[in-house]
Amino acid sequence: MSPVIAIDGPSGTGKGTLAALIARHLGWHLLDSGAIYRALGLAAERRGLSLDNPSSLQPLAETLPLRFDSGKVLLAGEDVSEAIRSEAAGMAASRVAAHTSVRAALLQWQRCMACEPGLVADGRDMGSVVFPHAALKIFLDASPGIRAERRYKQLMAKGLDANLPQLVADIRERDARDRSRSAAPLRAAEDAVLVDSTDMSIAEVFDRVLEEVRRVFPELVV
Ligand code: C5P
Repeated sequence: MSPVIAIDGPSGTGKGTLAALIARHLGWHLLDSGAIYRALGLAAERRGLSLDNPSSLQPLAETLPLRFDSGKVLLAGEDVSEAIRSEAAGMAASRVAAHTSVRAALLQWQRCMACEPGLVADGRDMGSVVFPHAALKIFLDASPGIRAERRYKQLMAKGLDANLPQLVADIRERDARDRSRSAAPLRAAEDAVLVDSTDMSIAEVFDRVLEEVRRVFPELVV
């Protein structure tokens, strides 16, 4: 199997940005697994399916017409890259992601993304379930307050409405569901390197993770 770097952690830690930077730096592929759950949530809502009923979600997960193309997320050919980024889509993702059968349906699909020269996989269970043999596992965390603040700034920068106390509440609710679910709960793999980004800039996190990449892949000139 091609080399994999797994980057897990809750939302708002800078995980997605970090994964994209590392993938670009190494010239490796990138798997944004959250986008899969977000797209599934969106597809389910559009079909009027209950997000809490795995028996109708599983067949949809098995046949989801999803493609990643040049940084875009395409659902049945439609560019949903922006639509899946809303807070509501994040909540819907977290609900569909709680079902064991839905996760199982998406497992092989994600594993197939590991191809040469390597894959940087971003999610909640990349190191613990999907790629348990990943050569490097990073668990990126940060306090809920700072994660909400970062999200608030992102939304404001996009000219979207944002309410900080509501964002803190949403983050806590999504964390609680992701950490307490029985199917692949959000947790650091035992062999993961923990990085707390609360007081770090994205550049500092990038440098810290690159140190680990050099340690694990000394043959890569990075
Ligand atoms: O990372 P992102 O915020 O895009 O993920 C959206 C939701 O998808 C998460 O809150 C989580 O419930 C779910 N997810 C997951 N496993 C992954 C990636 C995301 O359960 N590997």
